[in-house]
Amino acid sequence: MTEVARTPAADWWRQATIYEIYVRSFADSDGDGIGDLPGIAARLPELADLGIDAVWLTPFYLSPMADGGYDVADYCDVDPTLGSLGDFDALLRRAHELGLKVIVDIVPNHTSDQHAWFKAAVADGVGSAARARYIFRDGVDGGAKPPTDWLANFGGPAWTQVDDGQWYLHMFTPEQPDLNWSNPEIGTEFELILRFWLNRGVDGFRIDVAHGMAKNLTEPLPALGIHAVDRQLRYEVVDHPLWDRDEVHEIFRTWRRILNEYSPPRIGVAEAWVMPGRRARYIRHDELHQAFNFDFLQTVWECDALADVVDSSLTEAGAVGASPTWVLSNHDVVRHPSRYALPPDADTVEWLLSDGTMPKADLALGSKRARAAALLMLALPGSAYLYQGEELGLHEVADIEQRYLADPTWERSGHQDKGRDGSRVPLPWEPTGPSLGFGSSTAWIPQPPDWGAISRTSQESDASSILDLYKATLRLRQQFMGDGQLRWLHRGPGHLAFARSSGLVCVVNFGEAAVELPAGRLLVASQRLDGSRQLPADTAAWILTN
Ligand code: GLC
Repeated sequence: MTEVARTPAADWWRQATIYEIYVRSFADSDGDGIGDLPGIAARLPELADLGIDAVWLTPFYLSPMADGGYDVADYCDVDPTLGSLGDFDALLRRAHELGLKVIVDIVPNHTSDQHAWFKAAVADGVGSAARARYIFRDGVDGGAKPPTDWLANFGGPAWTQVDDGQWYLHMFTPEQPDLNWSNPEIGTEFELILRFWLNRGVDGFRIDVAHGMAKNLTEPLPALGIHAVDRQLRYEVVDHPLWDRDEVHEIFRTWRRILNEYSPPRIGVAEAWVMPGRRARYIRHDELHQAFNFDFLQTVWECDALADVVDSSLTEAGAVGASPTWVLSNHDVVRHPSRYALPPDADTVEWLLSDGTMPKADLALGSKRARAAALLMLALPGSAYLYQGEELGLHEVADIEQRYLADPTWERSGHQDKGRDGSRVPLPWEPTGPSLGFGSSTAWIPQPPDWGAISRTSQESDASSILDLYKATLRLRQQFMGDGQLRWLHRGPGHLAFARSSGLVCVVNFGEAAVELPAGRLLVASQRLDGSRQLPADTAAWILTN
């Protein structure tokens, strides 16, 4: 058997398992119903025990929370509902003691409208230096109409008017004015912000909306029609003025030089929803280290489609000497056990609007596939990004009462899109209690009553639990990851089988007929096989073949 040495310290990110903590929903230490930094610090041993390498914390900075903290009013302070700078330092220390790295989220595309820069931009008036930090324009039709037809993510126009008549651009909510990255002052400020957190000891940054920072705002601004600002770039506009512009890469080159000043070098991970083939540009050797692989997340549970995504992701990252990433869920999408429970062509917005009744979700099937998907993802070369609660098998909560919906999408869409709260329901830690061990009071979104049975503690003592499956698989992953190579043994139809250089073989059955496992020792399977060498439908297994 070949046990494989772990990657050297400086390259830890190439084959890591990174766990996303949605801060407001992880653990609440002070009983206000909202998760916080001390809550996270107290639970870090459980994360170390899970077998991950790093955590990524969603924004915990001072914020009016118009978009769950992605509207930052001060990049160098902690929101009082989430803790203090001292709490952050304590969390970081504890994480490092436990051997966990910490990645923080940086939001450079936009600030909060409560940020001192934006307040000054409004107060100082037309033509002021403060206004030049943002994107202000005069309106058309005598100033009464926004400068263009552009639409914002989450609904509504992408321009909002201020009292003196000018309009400012916001690709997200009006409370998130876009920064003007062609003003060198912004770059200089962000370098200071990066250093502020680097000097505190963070191991890297997740860069929010990395593909949106550079814009081409040369007049006349073009009309873009209904697809103007679509978070997932599901359109075919070449040379789009707002998204994925080549100029953005100069910013990341500067950032890479800063990250490299630290030892070991700190890392940058791009959130970049870009057209196929464009992602590698963000992870060239002198730019960021990784970019989330949303192609994998967006692919339905289908053998050939997943094989294609695996191949293209490996090729794309390999071409620039980076390593691929894999992600199944995050705080912006419907959790994957629910996606896999729905027909492949289901519209999840419609499904959420029906409180998860139409179409009907086959949750048992979704859960089974989610267990298999974990084995698939964790066997692939590169880094896996887990989303809190996937180790507990949490589904999307599709029937949250409307009064609890906090995602701006709900209001901005005129109640046509419930948004992302169903993936952000606070974690169940204990079988009982006012918020199932999340905190001492009810949580900001109440958890479904049956989550007590799948709480972390309930699953700890259950060898058949998905928690146990994640723990076992993550332990094995540390032993058998090996280099960045993958060799297909069977690439469909019906099932996938691939080998890693350590001798690890992963087999995933998407078809209906059982698949014969290759010879070797069974390391782990997503369902009980009870000694059988036949792998049933929607099941995955790891075999050690040497
Ligand atoms: C990213 C975040 C999302 C946020 C948006 C605007 O996509 O993941 O949660 O709403 O950026 O900052």
